[in-house]
Amino acid sequence: MALFASKGVVISVPVLVLSVSAAATLLFFLLFASSSSPPSCSCPTLANRNAERVSTSAEDIDWVKSQIVANGLHMQQNILRKGINPRTRQQQLEDLIHYKGISHYEGEQEANNHTALPCPGELLVEEHHSNYGEPWAGGRDVFEFLAESAKLKPDSKVLEIGCGTLRVGLHFIRFLNPEHFHCLERDELSLMAALRYELPSQGLLHKRPLIVRGEDMDFSKFGPDGTMYSLIYASAVFLHMPDKLVWTGLERLASRLKPLEGRIFVSHNIKFCSRLGGDECTKRLNGLGLEYRGKHIHDSLLFNHYEIWFEFRRFKEA
Ligand SMILES: C[S@@+](CC[C@H](N)C(=O)[O-])C[C@H]1O[C@@H](n2cnc3c(N)ncnc32)[C@H](O)[C@@H]1O
Repeated sequence: MALFASKGVVISVPVLVLSVSAAATLLFFLLFASSSSPPSCSCPTLANRNAERVSTSAEDIDWVKSQIVANGLHMQQNILRKGINPRTRQQQLEDLIHYKGISHYEGEQEANNHTALPCPGELLVEEHHSNYGEPWAGGRDVFEFLAESAKLKPDSKVLEIGCGTLRVGLHFIRFLNPEHFHCLERDELSLMAALRYELPSQGLLHKRPLIVRGEDMDFSKFGPDGTMYSLIYASAVFLHMPDKLVWTGLERLASRLKPLEGRIFVSHNIKFCSRLGGDECTKRLNGLGLEYRGKHIHDSLLFNHYEIWFEFRRFKEA
């Protein structure tokens, strides 16, 4: 039966009934979906989180504190309990040597057939995380301070002098595009820890950082002179070097720092400079096309500690 006939369009009663019920079903589903979705969250998304920000925000801190309260958590003694058997690094290493973990392949040949990148036990139990006296977590503090101070982007290039076991470097490697993190380090054990344990265990081998063994501020292996860095930094390194070597390094690096926007950051102290006295130091830096921009203090997120950083930039072509 035709209900309406206008301009040649005819709608029968069954079609009308079907259309109305389909519309009602759709409306019901829409209403149900909106009422059953979780309450809207002020969680930062990639879109609304400030693209420039790498450091932890006040909202992040409030959120994690609220999670600790919501779960009624307090710090407990780490003793033997159901399913949890705390070990010191030393005990863990002994277990690894004697028992090789719960499930393992017998015989060296068989083990090597199944382990693509066999790692020394000392590195697996992370002895190297305690190599510098400071907590390993401090590496994140350094990264956040430097990345924001130098306004880094993933396509920036960064050079670390004395990256050690990558306590800081790992964060840069994760943040930067492949091949954009470079490091000169002299200590063989630290380099083994970086290459054999830290990069593979953090899933960062694909970032192909350029890590070079060396101790005499020779940067010739870091590509052609045209490689321009947005950030060159030395975290707790220059204080262990003879002043003469630091100056040699600065002389070689000045032309590799992006003019004006690029930054050199040196932590702890600048004895290589202050020993020369104010004017003489400034003159020597200026001769390299560098200028001192000031001192900064950065607080740690997790422990009562601050780090002192000295900032330099290149003001002209060297
Ligand atoms: C205190 S550690 C800091 C490591 C890393 N920057 C960090 O904060 O975790 C100092 C590092 O500088 C390295 N170092 C000292 N003198 C050096 C030199 N002349 N050339 C390259 N690396 C050097 C040491 O081997 C050590 O790994």
